[in-house]
Amino acid sequence: MLVLGIETSCDETGVALYHTRQGLLSHALYSQTEMHGEYGGVVPELASRDHIRRLLPLIRQIFAEAGLTLRDLDAIAYTRGPGLAGALLVGASVAAALGFALKIPVLGIHHLEGHLLSPLLSDPAPAFPFVALLVSGGHTQLMEVTGLGQYRLLGETVDDAAGEAFDKTAKLLGLGYPGGPALSRLADEFSRSGQSVRFELPRPMLHSGDFNFSFSGLKTAVLTLVNKHEMTPQTRGAIAQAFQEAAVEVLTEKSLAALAKTGLTQLVVAGGVGANRQLRSNLDYRAGTIGATVYYPKLEFCTDNGAMIAFAGAMRLESGEPESLRLGKFTINARWDLEMQEIGREA
Ligand code: KG4
Ligand code: ZN
Repeated sequence: MLVLGIETSCDETGVALYHTRQGLLSHALYSQTEMHGEYGGVVPELASRDHIRRLLPLIRQIFAEAGLTLRDLDAIAYTRGPGLAGALLVGASVAAALGFALKIPVLGIHHLEGHLLSPLLSDPAPAFPFVALLVSGGHTQLMEVTGLGQYRLLGETVDDAAGEAFDKTAKLLGLGYPGGPALSRLADEFSRSGQSVRFELPRPMLHSGDFNFSFSGLKTAVLTLVNKHEMTPQTRGAIAQAFQEAAVEVLTEKSLAALAKTGLTQLVVAGGVGANRQLRSNLDYRAGTIGATVYYPKLEFCTDNGAMIAFAGAMRLESGEPESLRLGKFTINARWDLEMQEIGREA
């Protein structure tokens, strides 16, 4: 079965062709970050307009790369939510129109389901059940995943998302938008340089006894440091390192606690912050001490992409998502709860 995946929930236009027997055949991504960088954050109306410009050429490109045509398609999966309403509508309308013209099923996929299934595209892949740590620009959640569509929320952020905290801290340090990767590079360089300047930042909610997170206090603590010290390259590096250490420690320890609570031994990390090198090495090390294994998507599938949507759609179709839900209805959900994704449930 050949599935076209379409992702347009935020500032990346992602498309992919996934075949249930042959795997991922082709994929393409256009990132709008440069355009939004000028404004210091995503401008929703500009995002929608750019998706309109990019989507059809990208779809043509992946069909050409795979040596296939629209006639070869068996189904279309698009990101139905959560995300920016106008941006989601672009993907939804193209998916619905193509599905109608080709008379094939169209599935609306939950963006976070795409993220949390994305490590299954790697080899070796985890098997159900597992704990998933979703760390993106908009979400920070720990989920217990017992099967496709079986997602139980263990805890989530009570304020900023982890990626948002990286981005806001990076902005305070003058690193531009989106600053997560730049902040991480600066922190890693500083660690390697072996300099002795060090700052300590709080570990919010580390001992709260639940699986919730809070990152806005950490950002405020960074602001206090920024206001107190002269911003030499050394100070900026030390602050970046202190922030990354604090955020990574909280994410790591809560994930380990979630493994202990559920008795599971596989942790799946998904979402943009999953690309963070220190997070990966800390998680690998700590998981190793309790005999657990951590799975990550390939780096290119950590951030938003079409492959994870095509893959989630293919899994749903193969799991017998009922005919009634393959309607190709023109539907988006700008806000959407991941726990309402059981196979066959009408959301
Ligand atoms: O999953 P994603 O592409 O988009 C959302 O669905 O939100 O995640 C983007 C987020 C941004 O906040 C970005 O700064 C962060 O992931 N990010 C990182 C790194 N790479 C991306 N944060 C920390 N370290 C990184 N290496
Ligand atoms: Zn995302």
